[in-house]
Amino acid sequence: MEMFISGKAAQAGSGKRFEVHNPATGDLIDTVPAGEIDDVRSAVDACEEAFGKWSATTSRERGKILFRAAQMVRDRTKDLAILLTSEQGKPFKEARDEVQGFANTLEYFAGISASLRTGLVPLAHERYGAVIRKPIGVCGAIIPWNVPVILMGWKVGPALVAGNTLVLKPASSAPLTCLQLAGILKEAGLPDGVLNVVTGRGDIIGDEIARNPRIRKVSFTGKTSTGKHLMETASASLKRVTLELGGSDPMIVCDDADLKAAVDGAVRGRFYNCGQTCTAVKRLFVFESVADDYIRHLQAKIASLKVGNGMADGVDLGPMNNRKQLDRIVEVVNTVRAKDEGKILYGGAAPKGPAYDRGFFYTPTLVTDVAADSVLLREEIFGPVLPVVVVKDLDEAIERANDTVYGLGSSIWTKSIERATMGCERLQSGITWVNQHTKVPPDLPFGGIKDSGLGRENGLEVIDQYTEMKSVLINP
Ligand SMILES: NC(=O)c1ccc[n+]([C@@H]2O[C@H](COP(=O)([O-])OP(=O)(O)OC[C@H]3O[C@@H](n4cnc5c(N)ncnc54)[C@H](OP(=O)(O)O)[C@@H]3O)[C@@H](O)[C@H]2O)c1
Repeated sequence: MEMFISGKAAQAGSGKRFEVHNPATGDLIDTVPAGEIDDVRSAVDACEEAFGKWSATTSRERGKILFRAAQMVRDRTKDLAILLTSEQGKPFKEARDEVQGFANTLEYFAGISASLRTGLVPLAHERYGAVIRKPIGVCGAIIPWNVPVILMGWKVGPALVAGNTLVLKPASSAPLTCLQLAGILKEAGLPDGVLNVVTGRGDIIGDEIARNPRIRKVSFTGKTSTGKHLMETASASLKRVTLELGGSDPMIVCDDADLKAAVDGAVRGRFYNCGQTCTAVKRLFVFESVADDYIRHLQAKIASLKVGNGMADGVDLGPMNNRKQLDRIVEVVNTVRAKDEGKILYGGAAPKGPAYDRGFFYTPTLVTDVAADSVLLREEIFGPVLPVVVVKDLDEAIERANDTVYGLGSSIWTKSIERATMGCERLQSGITWVNQHTKVPPDLPFGGIKDSGLGRENGLEVIDQYTEMKSVLINP
């Protein structure tokens, strides 16, 4: 596939390409251009050329295009989901949900397009001031490989509906579905140059998006370390920055929780997308009075999960997305073993057999008796390993849950309103779920605190991040 600049398929100026492989089989799926800095500059030229007309259309007109694109995506869900599974690895049913999530997100932003307005502010002496909003101009978006399609929706939807133009860089190991979606947006009527997708290395394409002074805002999703570096680069041009970074979400299971629901929730929350989700359950705290029972059921449920090629029937966990991710998980589990940081109750190795030989598979892993200073509790573990910690009560659970540099999501499982409220008030995170984990509808603002990021995506609130506010006073 080619990059997508000014509404056309474009090859990299350098003519170089890189390969995209299926993480379940190692097969080559396609090649894409290895873009260079000049390709980003061409995309910015296209954005600037398109900006005048695009920003002058009404937000309602812009919303209509998003609605049409959402419908076209729904009609092509199956093909898009197959492509997503083949490049990313996740089970087909998860890929299908993600594609539908993209359509939902576009529809959400199309839906609010008709009501984007600002108001008058009463001032002294029966005068009024007004706050008007202007699109920022050329924006940049950088996305990772773990949920590339949904994250593309989170960035494209609000940026475009607010009247901006966009240069988007997909992840190098999962760029294909994003390129297809850009083509669908064009088919739905998006004018040339409004959305441009440039493929290539993060430290070249992503760095230029952060550095280029003609790009006035960048929304980045990825690792905390990359986000910090990007913010430094972007500071030279005083670019607005939204950072959606790593997390180490705690899940607290109280002694009055519906234990079956909490087992199902933990398994889905941790092992969905093979554990490669920013808001995955990465540390589980369970009350000691129910711990034995809970852990027994948890282990049984984990043992029932089927690992395999995401296109096979009944598969719960596909492969990890790439070799680096798998190597890191192997290293983490080896460290736990070598330093005696926990008891591996289930898993702890790659599955064996011819079906697994060529892919980046890892068995879902359950670790108990986790040492307080274990790597499992200190770092973001981006793979299918669930550490369980036994606590005596809610105070201890919350204290330990907050003992992390991250603050993305958190959940508390209880029937008590009082405990649920205490969790919502005291857990340090951008979102707290009660009796669920990981659901992120586009209607609610989403983002992290502490090292999990800056700013919010989604909800009506994200429009603040894609518009400049201007105060106006008129003297009659
Ligand atoms: N908070 C959230 O909403 C959220 C959602 C999803 C994921 N995440 C986080 O994302 C991380 C996993 O993603 P990842 O491993 O793909 O992260 P990553 O290595 O930081 O890469 C993310 C994106 O940044 C690009 N990039 C790499 N180096 C760059 C640089 N120097 N300047 C600018 N861009 C650069 C990458 O390009 P290449 O692919 O070409 O290297 C990719 O497109 C996890 O920490 C996860 O928690 C957060």
